[in-house]
This record gives sequence, C-alpha cells and structure tokens, in this order.
Amino acid sequence: MKFFIDTANLEEIGEAMDLGVLDGVTTNPSLMAKEGITGTENIRAHYQKICEIVEGDVSAEVISTDFQGIIKEGEELAALHEQIVVKVPMIRDGVKALRYFSDKGIRTNCTLVFSSGQALLAAKAGATYVSPFIGRLDDVSTEGVELIADIRQIYDNFLFDTQILAASIRHPMHIVECARIGADVATCPLKPILSLLNHPLTDIGLEKFLSDHRKADS
Ligand code: E4P
Repeated sequence: MKFFIDTANLEEIGEAMDLGVLDGVTTNPSLMAKEGITGTENIRAHYQKICEIVEGDVSAEVISTDFQGIIKEGEELAALHEQIVVKVPMIRDGVKALRYFSDKGIRTNCTLVFSSGQALLAAKAGATYVSPFIGRLDDVSTEGVELIADIRQIYDNFLFDTQILAASIRHPMHIVECARIGADVATCPLKPILSLLNHPLTDIGLEKFLSDHRKADS
C-alpha cells in the first residue's frame, strides 16, 4: 500500500520524505487555506514546490463545479507538472470531467466519495484514484472502513483499474485496516504515520538491550 501525505505544509512533506516512506501528496482547498496560500498564481506555485520535494503523485483540486470550468482548470493544473493528478469532486459535472480527462490521458482523483455507488461511477468514468473519506463517515456514526471493503470487492469483481485512495484517515488503526482490506493508497497527516512506530514493548525492549550492553561494557 502506498502512503500519501494529506497536507500542503512543505515542512511536513519534507519530514515525511525524510522518513523514506512517502509515495505522494494530496491537498485540498481547506489545506491550502490553512497554510495561508491564496490566489491562483500562489496556489499553483505552491503545487510546483510540492512537486519538487516529492517524487510521487500530487493531487491538485479544482474549484470549479461546472463541466467547462473543471476542464479548463484541470488542464491548467495538469500542465503545471507531470506529477499533478487533477482532483475532481464527485458531482454530475465532475463525473463527466473524469471521462473527459481519462480520454485525454490526464490522471484524476475523484474526491468527496462517501458511498460505493459513487465509487462505482468514478471507476466507470475512468478515474485514476477514488478518495473515500473514512474519518468523515466515522464522524457521522458510519463505519468508514466498511466502505473501503465494499469498494475493494466491487473493483475486484470487474477488474477496474481505479486505485482506492483511502482518505480522511485520523489514526494508525485506520491505516492498518485499510492495508488489511487492500486499499491501494492511504492518505493522512504525518501524525498517524508516525504513530505506527509506537509500541511500549519496543521501548521496554530497547531500554533493556541498551542497559545490558552498558552493564557488560563497564
Ligand atoms: C483527501 O484527499 C482529503 O484531503 C482529506 O483526506 C480529508 O480529510 P479530513 O476529513 O481530515 O479533512
């Protein structure tokens, strides 16, 4: 399973790269705003900076919600860098745009997916990635990881190429569950990735090894 980082923060992206486990980046308009990046030119320059830091795919989200607007914006974003994947919302004109981009060889990430029916449509329209938001489903008392399992089964039934990009991941067990189910990618902030490191027996075991070594050495 690939690890993407879900942030527009360059330091955090650099830190994840440094760890050696990063395969790509996802962003969204809220994450851009959080970093204080505003205005089309600044936002596009920021995407280019991200592409210079990471080696993998970088999702850049369109703001338009009508077909022509999505197409224009998506083509401009895709032209910024070969690593850019155009992020398109799961709406009617978005689905039409997914098909258009797919026919043109422009890679896409269909975002704001909350049901297996939406994921089926995205795959039919030729999306490169589909992003089911599992944390936001958990927030409304619905088991988010079950959606990942349903989509996995549907995509496997029909051998769809669309990759399942599990999004809105909040904690390390979300990542582990997604890996168990067979999501192709998990995207999340750095913290849940770093939390995968933690186990008290590792800390206790390391302390014992080091103290035994110190004793034997003295
Ligand atoms: C995915 O591409 C989204 O940017 C993201 O995972 C949403 O996460 P959130 O629900 O924590 O905002």
